[in-house]
Order: sequence, then structure tokens, then C-alpha cells
Amino acid sequence: MCGIVGYIGDKNCVPILIEGLKRLEYRGYDSAGIAVVGREECRAIKTKGKVSELEKNVYSQNISANLGIGHTRWATHGEPSVTNAHPHSNKEQTLFIIHNGIIENYSTLKNNLINEGYTFVSETDTEVLAHLIDYYLKLKNNLFQAVRYALNEVEGTYGLAVIYKGEPDKIIAARKGSPLVIGIGKNENFIASDVNALIVHTSQVVYLEDGEIAEIYKDHFHAKTIHDEEIIKEIHKVDMNVDEITKGGYPHYMLKEIMEQPDSIFNSMRGRLLFEEGISKLGGLQGYEDRIVRSQRIIISACGTSWHAGLVGEYMLEEYAGIPVEVEYASEFRYRHPIIRPEDTVIFISQSGETADTLASLKEAKKKGALCLGICNVVGSSIARESNAGVYIHAGPEIGVASTKAFTSQLVVLSLITLLLARKKNLSLIEGQNIIREMQSLPEKVKKILESNDQIEKIAEEYMSCRNFLYLGRGYNFPVALEGALKLKEISYIHAEGYPAAEMKHGPIALIDENMPVVFIATKDAVYDKVISNIEEVKARKGRILAIVNEDDDYIEKLVDHVIRVPKTINMLQPILSVIPLQLLAYHVAVKRGLNVDQPRNLAKSVTVE
Ligand code: F6R
Repeated sequence: MCGIVGYIGDKNCVPILIEGLKRLEYRGYDSAGIAVVGREECRAIKTKGKVSELEKNVYSQNISANLGIGHTRWATHGEPSVTNAHPHSNKEQTLFIIHNGIIENYSTLKNNLINEGYTFVSETDTEVLAHLIDYYLKLKNNLFQAVRYALNEVEGTYGLAVIYKGEPDKIIAARKGSPLVIGIGKNENFIASDVNALIVHTSQVVYLEDGEIAEIYKDHFHAKTIHDEEIIKEIHKVDMNVDEITKGGYPHYMLKEIMEQPDSIFNSMRGRLLFEEGISKLGGLQGYEDRIVRSQRIIISACGTSWHAGLVGEYMLEEYAGIPVEVEYASEFRYRHPIIRPEDTVIFISQSGETADTLASLKEAKKKGALCLGICNVVGSSIARESNAGVYIHAGPEIGVASTKAFTSQLVVLSLITLLLARKKNLSLIEGQNIIREMQSLPEKVKKILESNDQIEKIAEEYMSCRNFLYLGRGYNFPVALEGALKLKEISYIHAEGYPAAEMKHGPIALIDENMPVVFIATKDAVYDKVISNIEEVKARKGRILAIVNEDDDYIEKLVDHVIRVPKTINMLQPILSVIPLQLLAYHVAVKRGLNVDQPRNLAKSVTVE
């Protein structure tokens, strides 16, 4: 992994590939490269490090061609280096391949190829594919068939593209478990692993499905399964505007996306709340509502921030809809023989809709006959398409690697689902209308929190040099503590742990002294008094305390070093507000430490390998 682009048409592909790679930088990578095939050119150029380095290198050589592919690599097999960077090629340097995913049987394939006389220069699994395709190309003399034969030998996952000097009028693209999109232009076509890389050129796209392979010319394309069966692909129109994927005057995507939350939260609920009936309307669940209401159990499967959203979902669904909920790490769920029954509903939460573990757990649950629902942001993503039904969060493209606006929109959608199920069960009209009123007031309340940005920046100054943080919360605010700690550690590289506040006594309290900042999420809910006791315990051990409190709270202020105020709402919605100061805190601490907030080290936006 990580990013794939490709072009075939009448223009010089080089600037198109470089621009495309820049649009995919947010996904995280450690090396980059392009390969072109033209009348005079046939070669690959690669660099370790940034696309800007690659750009300098390529432009200094004045390269021009009408066919090319480009890749940003996030190392899986072999260290980040020029040799391991994609594109990889055959020995003659006439065939080039870029690949996302993992070839699981690569060492068997490699040994077979070595026995056939092939030699390898890199440590990657992708180079095996380059030689395997070359092997079949020499036998079949047809690129499409050579790729198809090679893929039939492969175990693992791939989104890939291949070009070849001997057939300079086409790109071959294939997919299994790693996304690939064809962009349809006028007398030119594109490929990418993510529509963000294409959207400046075309809004007409074709999503390849697992096990499909396409032959893409400049003015047409056709697709088959890798077992050689013909398929007709539908062209979709992507409803995204170019402004949505630029920084819009902000220094970082992360800050822009935090600041966008009044709009993204509004968009997640737009047209979905029916005040008169005190219920929500979710088109994507139509026809499935009764089955969900009758579920014996709801299981939520997700990773990272989406898993934290799932924990909040558990609290709200159990409280209001009265259905038992279990929240699972997708990576554990897929491998631990989970008991899934046909009368269960399994909800998969994923911003990207491409996370490998979440997708695999979806396939497992589907096999076992459960109703599978997706909560995704990226329209047309694999999880969205594989689910039986689902709800888009409509947060708009999230480019910053640290998930912010997607989290709050996931919570909005979980609230909408909770309202729907609760009203179909026992919740009264008045209570339903109260939830709707509170939901509708969220965008204004978020705007108010964002006005504390300067205050939070000053607080960040005081804490930027700390080496450890503890985040504590109870009830609905426990998952917020986990999310606050994750945000801080992933972008500032400061060690941070989230805990349910009462668990502190069972171990973490040993860490507390005057050097340990503790962030309490202490809004006025059912467990407020208990959180105050926990604050006292930390204070007694001289811990430095920063508390997220409600606007009317004049008590906690006297106990702690700093407070950040958030408006009050009903308990189930409070995490949507409480998390925002923690996103800003993490952002400012990381910026003050001079770090690249949008591309934290070692992280990829979309984790399409396990
Ligand atoms: C953290 C973060 C990750 C993702 C996780 C799942 O800020 O972004 O923890 O939440 O990789 O990604 P999705 O939601 O795309 O499945």
C-alpha cells in the first residue's frame, strides 16, 4: 500500500501523475515513484521520501509520455528505499507494476520464479508479481491474459496496475481486497486507489470489485473476472467538489476538518429527523428496520477511532433501544470464531470503508447469516457496498490522517439509529422530540466550543513538553477519554492512555505525581459526583489536571489547573461536544512540537492491510 494513480490519453501523463500522488499524500507513505511508457520513454523513476522530491527528480529530466502509473508506498515487506519503492519491473525494464495489498504466498512464488531463472532486486512482494506477469507474458504474448494468469496464482490482496512497452495503448488494473477506481474522461482515462486523486479530472467513475480485472484504453475499457468471465460495469457519478479536498486557507487538513464540524454534523443529520413523529428516517435502512428492532443482539465491529464511536453507540443503543450490544475490535473479531447468529445485527463502522480488518469481519458475519449494516463516510467504498444496508455519515472527505469530523458524524449517525430503534420500541414521542431538539442544536453548540480555540492553544503551550498523559472519563465520556488519548499519541507522539476514571485506582494511580497531566472529561451527567471524587484523588497526589466541564460548572474550576467549557446536552450526545476540545488540544500540542500533523509518522489514512 498506499496510493495508486494512472493515466492514459493524449496529454503528458507526468504532471497528472505527480498531482495525483500529491492528492494521495494524506494517506501516509515513505517512498514514491512513477513509470511511463511512451514513444521515446520507457522507465521508472523512484525516490525515498516525499512526492516533492520525486517531482524535482522527474521534472529535471524533462520526461513526456501519454501512458503512466504512479505510486506512494507505505512499507510492508522491506524497508523504505528506492529499490523497494514502486513501480517494480521485469528485468528488461519494459513492464511496470504498482500494487497495494499483500501477496501472502510470495515466498513460494518467488522460489518458483528463481527456479525459472528470475532474479530479484528488492525485498518486496510486489516484485514477485512483476516477474510472474513477465513469465506469463512470454508464454501468452498478451498482457491482459498474462496478468490474469498471474493473479490466479496469487493468494492475498491487491489493487494493482500494469503497463507494458509492447502494448503501449492500455493499462491493466485489477482488484482484490484493495480499492481501485477507473476515472472516465473524454479521450483519456484514469485509475486511482481513491477518488480524491481523480476528482479534478472527472466525476465519472467505475469501481472495480474483488476478483475483477480491467483493460483500460484512452477511449474505452472493458472488464472481466480473473476467471475470464465477461462483466458489464456501471459508471457512477461522484458527487464531490474540488474545494472539499483542499485546505481552504487552514494550515492543516486536521484543523480545517475540526473547524468544519458544525457543517459536517449538520450534514450527517440533514433531512433525517422527523420532528412531528419524534423519529429519524434513514433511507439506507428502509426495509430492514423491523429486522433490526427484532435483533437479539447488536454487534459493532470497527478499528481505532471508529471503534471508539462504536463504544458510545453501545451505551446509547442499550440505554434507549434496550438491545444488548457488544463492541468488537474488527481485527480480533475476524479471527476468534465469534458466535454470530442469523438473528444478530452487526454494524461495521469505518470512515474509509476500506479498512482490511473491518472488511474481513464483515465478510465473516455475512457468511454466518447476520444482517450486516455499514456506517461509512466514503461513498461507494468496499464496506458500504458489501453491507446488506447502511447509513452514510456524509461528513465530506476526511483527508487529515487523524480522524476528527468523521468521529462526530459517526456519533450523529449512531444517535439517529438509536432514535429510530428506540421509537419503534418504547421511547415516547416527547422523549423522541427531545432528542431531536438536542440534535438540532448541536451545530450551534459546536461553533461555541470552537471559539475556545485560542484558549486551548495557550493550554497546549503549557503541556507540550509533557511525556505522558492520562485521560479519564466515565459513562458516555469513557470512550471520549480513549479518543482524546488516541488523538494526542498519534499526532504528537506523546504517550497517552485513556481509562474509565474509576479504573484509575486499580493501577494507573501509581503513575500520578506533579509531572503527570490528567485530562478529565467531567460534564454534568449521572456519574458527575463520582468523577469529582476521582478528581480529588488525583489532586491529592499533586497531578496536574485539565478538565472538560459544562458551561455552568463553577465547582470543578476550583479544584483543577485548567478548565475548558462545553455546552450541556443530553448525556447520549455529550461525547459529540466533549471530544472537540480534545481534538484541538492534540492538534495544538503537535503543531507546537513542530510535527507534521496531517501526515504523522508510520500512519496511513486507510489501513488496507491487516
Ligand atoms: C485515528 C484513526 C484510525 C482510524 C482506523 C479505522 O485517528 O484515524 O484509528 O479510525 O484506522 O479507520 P476507518 O474508520 O477508515 O475504518
